[in-house]
Amino acid sequence: MLEKIGVIGGGFIGGVLVQEIAQRRLAREVGLVDPAPMVNPADPEERQAVVRRQSVAIGKSLDIFEGLPVVSRDVRLVGTKDYSALAGAELVINTAGVPRKARPDGTFPSREELLAINLKVTIEVARGIAQFCPEAMIISIANPLDAIVFTLDKRLAPPKNRLVGMAGVLDSARYRAFVAEAANVSVENVNAIVLGGHGDDMVPVRSSCLIAGLPVERFLDADTLLRIENRTRKAGGEVVGLLGFGSAFVSPAWSALEMAEAIIFDKRKILPVCAKLEGEYGVDGLFCGVPAILGRNGVEQVIELDLTAEEKAAFAKSVAGVAKTCEEAGAMLATL
Ligand code: APR
Repeated sequence: MLEKIGVIGGGFIGGVLVQEIAQRRLAREVGLVDPAPMVNPADPEERQAVVRRQSVAIGKSLDIFEGLPVVSRDVRLVGTKDYSALAGAELVINTAGVPRKARPDGTFPSREELLAINLKVTIEVARGIAQFCPEAMIISIANPLDAIVFTLDKRLAPPKNRLVGMAGVLDSARYRAFVAEAANVSVENVNAIVLGGHGDDMVPVRSSCLIAGLPVERFLDADTLLRIENRTRKAGGEVVGLLGFGSAFVSPAWSALEMAEAIIFDKRKILPVCAKLEGEYGVDGLFCGVPAILGRNGVEQVIELDLTAEEKAAFAKSVAGVAKTCEEAGAMLATL
């Protein structure tokens, strides 16, 4: 158990995180930061005065606090509109930013299209972490995932083990869920890794997909696997299209918590995470999805997989996409 975990952004994912941190007894205190609702200077003064008194962070913290006796948990919950709730956090989980939302015609933006708006939010996030918990381990969830982690790195320059993005655990969980369903076996039997960027070019690694230690091809034919891998690449969008109001929030929160637990309990668990590569997989200076050992020091070691020629080519394509978005992020950062 940690003394304190900070959660940045108290929306859908942030809410599940705080509630689960309390349930799982991961910290004695949780600090939740969210500036919402924002005051609109164009509104009449009476309306602005009302909004100034409202707070998603304080409201959600109070809601969960009032339920603690029911679930028999003792945890201090601090919600603030500014970043002071992060003071002293040993681990922060960043969810700040807008999610993808279905448009009225049913289409929805790519994660990359969130860059301009979420980059500005991330600059505030970096400022808050630097001011209130500069030594904290950081798990970032906001999209576009790889470019937002890259931005946090540019602004905070933490040791590379202390900054990690959550996408691979979720993308791999989606792959595993679909495989387990098709093979009609327990999800506990399915192991798989999805590599690369958290975009539609992500790489479900079939050679890593095992059911109870056996190659997945023993259970599913090639067409079924291809269909599952294509669905995995677009699984985030499938949920966005169905929900209408936003994007997946329970599975991303659970995925980030699997990473948090690996760190908090020094499990040295091998998980696919967005980590800084310095030569591994032939990539230098980019954050991208790869398997890594997560333990008390965060990213303890990146694990290099033996990929087939086809998987290597798919990984290179995905990395090229990440590099392009990070280049755009770098150019925007230079003007902000
Ligand atoms: N600092 C802190 N929080 C902020 C800031 C900021 N500068 N700007 C916005 N927020 C808050 C919003 O007020 C909102 O409550 O971030 C919260 C985001 O919550 P949701 O809109 O409910 O989005 P959620 O589904 O939780 O997704 C958060 O994770 O998966 C990604 O694409 C998703 O980028 C999105 C992020």
